Amino acid sequence: MKVYDYVIVGAGIAGLYASLNIPASKSVLILSKDPIWECNTFYAQGGVATATDEEDIPSHIEDTLKAGAGLCNEEAVEILSRNSIGVIEDLINRGFEFDKDENGNLLFTKEAAHSKPRILHAGGDATGRELHKFLLSQTRAKVLEGVIVVDLLIDEGRIWGVTIRQGAKQENIYARCVIIASGGVGSIYEYHTNAKKISADMQGLAALKGLTLKDMEFTQFHPTVFVYNKRARKLLLTEALRGEGATIVDEEGRRFLLEYDERGELAPRDIVSRAIYRHQKEGHQAYLDFSNFTEEFFKKRFPTIYRNFQNLGYDVPRQRVPISPAFHFMMGGIATDTWGRVPGVENLYAVGEVACTGVHGANRLASNSLLEGLVFSKRAVEDSLLGDSSATMREFPNKQFILTKSGDKERKQLLRRTMWEKVGIVRRISELEEARQIVTRMEKEDIGYLLKLRIATAKSIIEAALARKSSIGAHYIEGE
Ligand code: SIN
Repeated sequence: MKVYDYVIVGAGIAGLYASLNIPASKSVLILSKDPIWECNTFYAQGGVATATDEEDIPSHIEDTLKAGAGLCNEEAVEILSRNSIGVIEDLINRGFEFDKDENGNLLFTKEAAHSKPRILHAGGDATGRELHKFLLSQTRAKVLEGVIVVDLLIDEGRIWGVTIRQGAKQENIYARCVIIASGGVGSIYEYHTNAKKISADMQGLAALKGLTLKDMEFTQFHPTVFVYNKRARKLLLTEALRGEGATIVDEEGRRFLLEYDERGELAPRDIVSRAIYRHQKEGHQAYLDFSNFTEEFFKKRFPTIYRNFQNLGYDVPRQRVPISPAFHFMMGGIATDTWGRVPGVENLYAVGEVACTGVHGANRLASNSLLEGLVFSKRAVEDSLLGDSSATMREFPNKQFILTKSGDKERKQLLRRTMWEKVGIVRRISELEEARQIVTRMEKEDIGYLLKLRIATAKSIIEAALARKSSIGAHYIEGE
């Protein structure tokens, strides 16, 4: 039987950077669901937050803790910031190029709730795409695309591998160490900015296997998203636009955010999202206005957005773009310690958005997510190298899974609408109860396995939201 030293589930920043940190003597297999580039890292625009130097660490920590509304794991935040300079240096030493000014100095931009500019970017607004391309070019790992992980082979308190489906073929793949780096949960919401394959499978699988999901009520909604395109993934308009001077206005050109928070466009994401949501509920429109930008600046600093919106028929920067909040990021996930270890299962790690170290608390500070992927995947590999890899491996029977059944498509749509309308930006107890009833009913129907996984994740979000009685961070409860 073939045994890999490492199986990594997911090929975004956390999975790829983990693979780069594994010694060349080890065999590594990366499992990717859709074509490898189709992941949240690829679509990340804004950048990577980092402490700009040693002196900035306390301030980066403070901003992260403040955004997390007192619910962060302070040790994890300290680790994130203290290791930020090292991982950025490592990327640069490996040959990655962040954007620089004409004198060769790194360009830092500002995003909401950061007390200073500390976001590095690449290709203007194509940081994720550039990073993903670079990490892919560096990894030596074998990659299998078009693969769905349907089971984690856990027994005797350790992981032995995973069961995968590739088309009609199902097989067990054995590994001494498994790192889950599969990303968030976007596809269970009607409006989201996530890649198509980000559909909460691994969180659901973790729940079915009895692993702990933590902080699941904390779902982040990005305030500036163009939701009128036909695709499932809605178009993000990076926060860096506001960091560079774009404003949010209503149909009369009024900067209404200032009525909600004196920080206006640079207030934390949850505040801006709720303000837009409320203003829209009162019958107003919301737009992102670029009139502070020259065309030359816009084209150079935000080339992807410039091109995408020109193609959609918007004459940016002269014309403003209609926006809405949309689901963007999951703060919660598979509970891990600060080494990415999943408690109770030896040699199983979870890193990046799928994991919950508590680093984001109730709300993530902008651009801390790519950084999280880098810092904690490296630590997971470091820890795994200290473990005992001498155990004799054993085989597991090949259990069959029926992935989809008729009616799943309609139920998935109902799930997405339910999550958006009843478990969204502003929540009510009665609507959360209704959502719980809907998913509980659906769960009992004759459904496919993949939908079952989505429902398990959705249920954990709803239950966590019901358990948290008062508003904090991204979890906002209003009335009964
Ligand atoms: C953005 O570019 O606005 C998103 C960055 C992030 O999610 O932190």
